[in-house]
Amino acid sequence: MCGATLSRLSDFDKNIVLVGFMGTGKSAVGRLLADRLKRPFVDLDGEIERTTGMSIPQIFAQYGEAEFRRLEKESVSRIATLKGHVIATGGGVVMDEENVQLLKSSGILICLTATPDAILQRILPTRSSRPLLLRGDPKERIAELMALRASYYAKADVTIDTTHRRPEEVAEEIIRSVGRIHG
Ligand code: S3P
Repeated sequence: MCGATLSRLSDFDKNIVLVGFMGTGKSAVGRLLADRLKRPFVDLDGEIERTTGMSIPQIFAQYGEAEFRRLEKESVSRIATLKGHVIATGGGVVMDEENVQLLKSSGILICLTATPDAILQRILPTRSSRPLLLRGDPKERIAELMALRASYYAKADVTIDTTHRRPEEVAEEIIRSVGRIHG
């Protein structure tokens, strides 16, 4: 990556916000990107876990999805006040229009995508940590949720397909895209 793009981005104080379906690599790419840009990294689900002292599956099991979405929304309002961070969000955050508006006003929204097959391969080893994929056939559930959410993900400023790319390559492409928009 050329140094000129990196140094241009160092005075870009908006957040870089990663959205997209489960298993598209938001957290892995986000960490690498933050490291590359020397920015602090925040993981929205991690923030929810930290503030509640509970894991995401525990929150779903004890209080249900509606309470998780309320906590998620609270965390979005806090995180949207940050500047110059890389933020990885949970896959369903974009289904709330106010979340999208807040995140957009705080930064640039990058949507990561992948095919349902790639997502299935990536999430199978950690399926128990994704409450929404526990019921029914995971492949059908992924296809169903992806179809329901397509129009929400389409609101992002940039979309990057991660299917055949390593997280390092995705991070580089994000840096180039933000550089083009910002430059
Ligand atoms: C969810 C995605 C999860 C987590 C929660 C709900 C969703 O985050 O927020 O289980 O609605 O797609 P990841 O996208 O990081 O797996």
